[in-house]
Amino acid sequence: MPSFSFPPGFFWGASTSSYQVEGNNNNNDWFLWEVEGKVAFSCGRAADSYQRFEEDFQLAKFLGHNSHRFSLEWSRIQPHEKEFNKKEIEHYRQVIYSLLEKDIQPIVTLHHFTNPLWFYQKGCWVNPYSSDYFARYVEKISRELSGLVKYWITINEPLVYIYNSYFRGIWPPGENSLRKAGEVLKNIKEAHLKAYQIIHKTNNKVFVSLAKHLREFSPCHFLNFGQNFVPAFLRNKFFNFELLNYFYKKKSLDFLAVNYYSKDFVRFSGGELFGKNCYSSHHQLRRNSLGWYVSPDSFFNILLRLKRFNLDIIITENGTSEERPELYEDFLRTHILSMVKAIKLGVKVKGYLWWSLIDNFEWERGFSPKFGLIGVDRNLNRTIKPFSYIYKNICINNLINYG
Ligand code: BGC
Repeated sequence: MPSFSFPPGFFWGASTSSYQVEGNNNNNDWFLWEVEGKVAFSCGRAADSYQRFEEDFQLAKFLGHNSHRFSLEWSRIQPHEKEFNKKEIEHYRQVIYSLLEKDIQPIVTLHHFTNPLWFYQKGCWVNPYSSDYFARYVEKISRELSGLVKYWITINEPLVYIYNSYFRGIWPPGENSLRKAGEVLKNIKEAHLKAYQIIHKTNNKVFVSLAKHLREFSPCHFLNFGQNFVPAFLRNKFFNFELLNYFYKKKSLDFLAVNYYSKDFVRFSGGELFGKNCYSSHHQLRRNSLGWYVSPDSFFNILLRLKRFNLDIIITENGTSEERPELYEDFLRTHILSMVKAIKLGVKVKGYLWWSLIDNFEWERGFSPKFGLIGVDRNLNRTIKPFSYIYKNICINNLINYG
């Protein structure tokens, strides 16, 4: 059977984020959002990974992972503007030790959608000094963890955050303002640039990036292809490449951290600059349990477009939620094979992390989407899903069979 061996030292593993798995985070804007009844679900104990990280990492080790991405909860580390919490910093140090002693490379995200309440009450990312507040947190924690972490991700998916929080208004602070979205974008850009400098100043030989959500935007080819081309082009330009180009020019990406899930078919729609998504049945692609198109070809296309940056790439999120177990395996294999195709064409992919290690709190969708390699029921029992054993074989052998 033909097979492909990945470059030696390839990162295999999975990702999580603090709010989605830790549990009992009650000092941030998402918690407030839930308490105010703005969302139908509460995160509560999540998967209780704050207590059970050791058990989770043992499972990751058993599954052959050699790297793991997780995020630090800013609101634990800096519960008040003028206070850093030593105990919580020590907690994260223990989390990292637990990974290191298992030979699992920690990849640490500093901001994954949640903000401390004090920062939120100061106007959150609209505050003109927001990037300075963020920089103070980064300065403190990157010094405290200096020498322990090689791979840092400053901010997860800034545009997804801005779109949901300041444009669609479905995440805190529930704004629907283009002007504010623009200000937040400006501040988050500054925040990344400052964090990039600080982490390099406080650490030796580290690699810093920002996790960028990328998707393919194809004009719907059914009706009015010519017109549909315009919003698809604009989405691609703005949502995929504007930030990447900006940070690349500023030399503030040591590698590309890519989150890829799906593609959109885009349709022209009167007054809407970015058009509308088209879900018509004439697109013959399968959709997952959340209605997202499953397109490994788009993953390949996206990877190919990243070649021009000539930077190492780590896939920091790729995954799905499915009704039927065998569809996870199909998703996993087809996406890894797309990655293989890209690597063969010279795209420098150096790692692949599945989203997510465990089933978790999926923001406004609650606990029903199941992205985990490991299932977590509401009694918080962990069960390894069948497709995780397929992934385990790939991780352990650093090789995929195909054909
Ligand atoms: C986010 C995760 C989320 C995942 C699946 C990504 O865009 O970074 O927090 O759970 O999508 O919805």
